[in-house]
Amino acid sequence: MLVHPLNSLVVFILVPHAVSFIDQTNVRVSNSHRFAAIAQPCSEASPPGRPTPRFFSFLFDDTFQLLNSKTMGTYQVSRKRQFGPVYKSNIFFRPAVFATDEASMADLSAEESRKNLDAFFPPHHKKLFGPQSLLVQSGEQHARLRRLIQPTLSPAAVKSYQQVIDSSVAKFLQDLSRKCASEYVPVVPELRSFFISLVVQILLGDDALDNNKLVADLSLWSKGLLAPPLNFMPWSTAARAMRARKRIASRLETIIENKSTYGLLGRLVSYRDENGDKLSTGDVIDNVLTLISAGSDTTASAVTSLIMILSPEIKETIKAEPEKMLALLDKVLRVYPPAPFQVRLNKDEPLHVGGYLIPPNWLVVYGYAGALFSESTEWTDLKDNASPSSSLAFGGGPRMCPGRWLASTVLMAYCRELVNLEWKLDPNQNLEQRYTPGLFPMDGLRLKFTLQ
Ligand code: HEM
Repeated sequence: MLVHPLNSLVVFILVPHAVSFIDQTNVRVSNSHRFAAIAQPCSEASPPGRPTPRFFSFLFDDTFQLLNSKTMGTYQVSRKRQFGPVYKSNIFFRPAVFATDEASMADLSAEESRKNLDAFFPPHHKKLFGPQSLLVQSGEQHARLRRLIQPTLSPAAVKSYQQVIDSSVAKFLQDLSRKCASEYVPVVPELRSFFISLVVQILLGDDALDNNKLVADLSLWSKGLLAPPLNFMPWSTAARAMRARKRIASRLETIIENKSTYGLLGRLVSYRDENGDKLSTGDVIDNVLTLISAGSDTTASAVTSLIMILSPEIKETIKAEPEKMLALLDKVLRVYPPAPFQVRLNKDEPLHVGGYLIPPNWLVVYGYAGALFSESTEWTDLKDNASPSSSLAFGGGPRMCPGRWLASTVLMAYCRELVNLEWKLDPNQNLEQRYTPGLFPMDGLRLKFTLQ
């Protein structure tokens, strides 16, 4: 008999392999039903799903669907419908288990907090983020980088940026509404560019950057995340993305030289480990680039989704009951999760997720899109105690998004301004949303503001 603590629940495995057929809703219980849990076995089998044969897994590999911007989110939903919320498949030619509901993702976060899981990225993604990026590092080096970065994104730090955020958002929307007064203009590129400047200004203290070049290069860089890894072909998207990375790095190097005592940069530049070793300029660049890219596309995506759902009725509700704004933003993040998934490599011990066993050396995926895409889009269904910064869209466990307070504060600033503005969506546009890599409508959300 094995005692297994799962999210402070006690689940007993009674007969290994004998209970793989049970519906996992039967093995999951709330604290108030703790005794029921003791009577209900936890399966020791791997979850249902695609075959994972040792040498022929490539025949059942789902990587293409997972990395394709069109199917990145819907793929998880269709497999979830086919096999249930915890299912197995193959990605990157390895067996993988997907957790695509709130409960199994909570199990996975709890397991990740106590077991040895590594961040997992295909080699060309690692090259794009940089080998010392917080995103690709694991273990002690990951924990060290988080300790360095987190204080500049803590709730107290974000409060100190509040004024900059509020005035930047108000000015941006004022300029945008003038620009989009007489014709339909796609606002996604404008929002992306705004977020890049905001993150650079807040974290690096630089407002004199040649933003247009940085935005163009970051856009080329992010296309590399979705492109096949054909770096050896100089004209391929992957090779162009790597060249854009080099240009971004050289621009960041100049800021680092000039602003090496400011906020986040100061912390990274002055860091010394127990042996007195410091981070190289390359290490600092990897992490600054990670923060700019992780923070800008995701937040721009959430604001785009907010604009798409803000109907006159919802605006009136928020104006009459401003306290509902938090619940509305929480809902936007849940229904349109800006980040679709994250992958880990399970290293040493089996994991228990959703009542199933995940063996060492398997990949395991937080399927945010699978978990959240199927949520109700009923906008009157706003939960009173919801808070955007604790949304499942920010992940969970030791890698939960460190930028969640900054993102929520920016979203609130947008919501406060947007409820007082009016606009019309271009009726001749494709509003289908795809991950590119944030979730954006195909035609960049073309709209025209009606000046007040
Ligand atoms: C609506 C906006 C945002 C969403 C939905 C979002 C979502 C996420 C998610 C799902 C993760 C992965 C967690 C995991 O691997 O388990 C993550 C990680 C991360 N996010 Fe965010 N994020 C947002 C905004 C931001 C902002 C504004 C910043 C900073 C400027 C930021 C910086 C990061 C970093 C550095 C990581 C890597 C953390 C690690 O590996 O330890 N994010 N984010």
